[in-house]
Amino acid sequence: MKHISVLKDEIIHFLQVKDNGLYVDATLGGGGHTIDMLSKAKNVHVYAFDVDVNSINEFKERSEYKNFSNQITIFNENFSNIKNTLHQQNIMYVDGVIADLGWSSDQLESIPGLSYQQLDQDLDMRFDKSLFVQAKDILNTAGKDELSQIFYLYADFRGNENQKLVDAIRKFRSNKLFAKVKDLVQVCDSALNLKRIQSKSRRHTVYSRVFQALRVRVNNEYENLKRFLVDSLEVLKINSRMCIITFQSGEEKIVLDFIKRNQNSLKILSQCSDGNFVRPSIEELTKNLRSRSAKLFVVEKV
Ligand SMILES: C[S@@+](CC[C@H](N)C(=O)[O-])C[C@H]1O[C@@H](n2cnc3c(N)ncnc32)[C@H](O)[C@@H]1O
Repeated sequence: MKHISVLKDEIIHFLQVKDNGLYVDATLGGGGHTIDMLSKAKNVHVYAFDVDVNSINEFKERSEYKNFSNQITIFNENFSNIKNTLHQQNIMYVDGVIADLGWSSDQLESIPGLSYQQLDQDLDMRFDKSLFVQAKDILNTAGKDELSQIFYLYADFRGNENQKLVDAIRKFRSNKLFAKVKDLVQVCDSALNLKRIQSKSRRHTVYSRVFQALRVRVNNEYENLKRFLVDSLEVLKINSRMCIITFQSGEEKIVLDFIKRNQNSLKILSQCSDGNFVRPSIEELTKNLRSRSAKLFVVEKV
């Protein structure tokens, strides 16, 4: 499935890319936002990060990359290392930072285990292949409390549902080790009685939450995001902006908590009069259903 970049116009509107500016795209992916930034003003330089080497290699095949290659520096690095990585390049401050969290549709094929629909894929879920622990290792070895915490903290499974899920995982692995996506789907079906739920979209939501919880744990996503936000603020020039696109409530909470903690040094720019943050327009939703959970948080360093 080809990835479609989300909230492109909004990012460009808020970022206010200027001539000779230095920008960070913390999540390069297919490079949609990077190319936009490079196209909007003269002599812009983008420092782009991605933990997934395949995404970087695919981006380098794009003709747009070839047009701008001397204005892009790409790091196969976790964005949590933004400050050190830039400092090593003698870049102390930048004019803007963006991060489009999560994974791209292109990664559904190249990173096994992300989707509950790819039943025969391995339960891996690592964006960064140098990470040691895969999703199946967690399912096969984590204790009762750890599993319970993973599903509670990263996907809000509480009480009975949480317990049933954990018990079903432990029961499954007492006979056979988790290996494939279909093993986890089978456990979800039996633990949460999903076959009984008529609505396809409600079933989808439950599977997605289970898979999301493991993905967040495997990739240490929340800790990386927290460190990234703090260090991005340090490398941002005064009066410059940071744009973060979130896709789920756990990410939103972390961004909102960061904004609250730093309220004296930040101005919020993407909050509407009803208190909600900017979301994709109806036009964008019509073209790209995957954008439906996106939310844009834009802050300016003051
Ligand atoms: C939603 S995609 C970005 C899509 C991109 N904005 C575009 O327009 O094509 C997110 C990308 O961020 C990468 N990524 C996720 N977490 C990361 C992290 N902690 N550090 C660096 N890259 C990360 C993923 O590998 C993926 O390629």
